[in-house]
Amino acid sequence: MRKFGSSKTFSLIIISALLVYLYHITSKTSNTESSRKHYSKLMTIPLENTILTDKIVLSFVVCDSRFNESLNLVKSVLLFTKTPVYFVIFTDDNLRHSFNETLSNWKILLKNKLNFELQKINFPEDHEDDWMNLFSKCAAQRLFIPKLIPHIDSMIYVDTDTLFLGPIDELWGFFSNFNSSQISAMTVEDDNPNVSWYPRFAKHPFYGKYGLNSGVMLMNLTRMRNFGWVDYVTPIMLKWKLFIPWGDQDIINIIFHYHTDAVLVLSCRYNYRADQCMYGDACADATARGVHLLHGSRRAFHNHKQPAFQAIYKAIDEYELGTDSTHSLLNSIEKYLSEAPSSNCGNLKDAFLRVPIKTLNELYSVPTRVQAEICIN
Ligand SMILES: *[C@@H]1O[C@H](CO)[C@@H](O)[C@H](O)[C@H]1NC(C)=O
Ligand SMILES: *[C@@H]1O[C@H](CO)[C@@H](O)[C@H](O)[C@H]1NC(C)=O
Ligand SMILES: *[C@@H]1O[C@H](CO)[C@@H](O)[C@H](O)[C@H]1NC(C)=O
Ligand SMILES: *[C@@H]1O[C@H](CO)[C@@H](O)[C@H](O)[C@H]1NC(C)=O
Ligand SMILES: *[C@@H]1O[C@H](CO)[C@@H](O)[C@H](O)[C@H]1NC(C)=O
Repeated sequence: MRKFGSSKTFSLIIISALLVYLYHITSKTSNTESSRKHYSKLMTIPLENTILTDKIVLSFVVCDSRFNESLNLVKSVLLFTKTPVYFVIFTDDNLRHSFNETLSNWKILLKNKLNFELQKINFPEDHEDDWMNLFSKCAAQRLFIPKLIPHIDSMIYVDTDTLFLGPIDELWGFFSNFNSSQISAMTVEDDNPNVSWYPRFAKHPFYGKYGLNSGVMLMNLTRMRNFGWVDYVTPIMLKWKLFIPWGDQDIINIIFHYHTDAVLVLSCRYNYRADQCMYGDACADATARGVHLLHGSRRAFHNHKQPAFQAIYKAIDEYELGTDSTHSLLNSIEKYLSEAPSSNCGNLKDAFLRVPIKTLNELYSVPTRVQAEICIN
């Protein structure tokens, strides 16, 4: 009996030791990114609690009147990108149905080249009104995204008044250029001290000499979560709310003022605004290599102050996915640019056309056919 008893005790000790050991290993690794990444790779369908790492994710926030504009943004992504793209759209209840309808149609039309999820607008209850109305309605939502979509590792965030003119893959590629302290990539607001807003007017700290423009923002959400991003934003908003006319962009600038090592600065050709051309050519890289992403800030796509911006928007707006040929898109961009009243930005027509021409020729040209026959499918 004693012998049996001691061997039973012995087995119990071994088993308990094993359990403690197993618990130790699993608790140590189950929350690390590498195990989650490994897990999600094993699964063909992403499950709750796994992180999407193998997809290009594009996200934007829309409330009120920006619906058409944001669909043109989606269209521009689909036009110039061959790789499937996953869209995460934060929107209010009014627009949810319309997004679902249009994007579901496009998904069928383009044979699953896109997928999407619709998220509700969601601000912390404390100070909800402050947040909701900072700068423009809902715009500050972006600051909370790292906490709102824990299943996404990284995404490109864009304002709805942006249009891709080349493949999104190229922009996504910058994630792999991040060094170990970088959590985000953006362009600077501009680098002309004579016109630059931040050094002349800002009453709050901002990034570098000229500040960052937040219209295009690569966000490694995993890193932003580890950084504790969302914990920073409310105290900053409360402290500076009377001094931050650009809302969320200013908050981002304040955070990165104190964490310059966390930002990768992108070329101005990935967030090309009228500021880069209205006083003359202020983005040499776009003149040399073409504009890759156009940002119609201050309503440049809609008012008549920047005819070149409006011309490109109009061409993409009129283009019907799955119906029109990409050749006709190039023709109308060219035509509208030529017809537009002359302007400093319009003088840089080649910078606007270079990337679309190159991209569409590479994506869709079939050597045995003439270009006029080439169409999107
Ligand atoms: C949005 O687009 C639809 C269809 O093209 C059009 O009927 C509508 O007037 C547009 N709305 C705005 C606000 O431009
Ligand atoms: C979106 O539309 C599809 C059908 O096209 C429907 O099955 C789905 O429930 C809708 N989703 C939402 C969130 O409305
Ligand atoms: C984001 O950062 C995490 C943690 O460093 C890393 O595992 C992941 O690969 C990064 N994502 C991208 C798209 O680079
Ligand atoms: C800024 O203004 C000064 C003085 O007018 C001028 O000499 C300089 O060239 C301007 N710089 C830029 C980048 O436009
Ligand atoms: C990453 O790059 C940034 C910007 O160039 C720099 O400030 C930072 O020190 C770099 N971090 C590391 C860990 O090398």
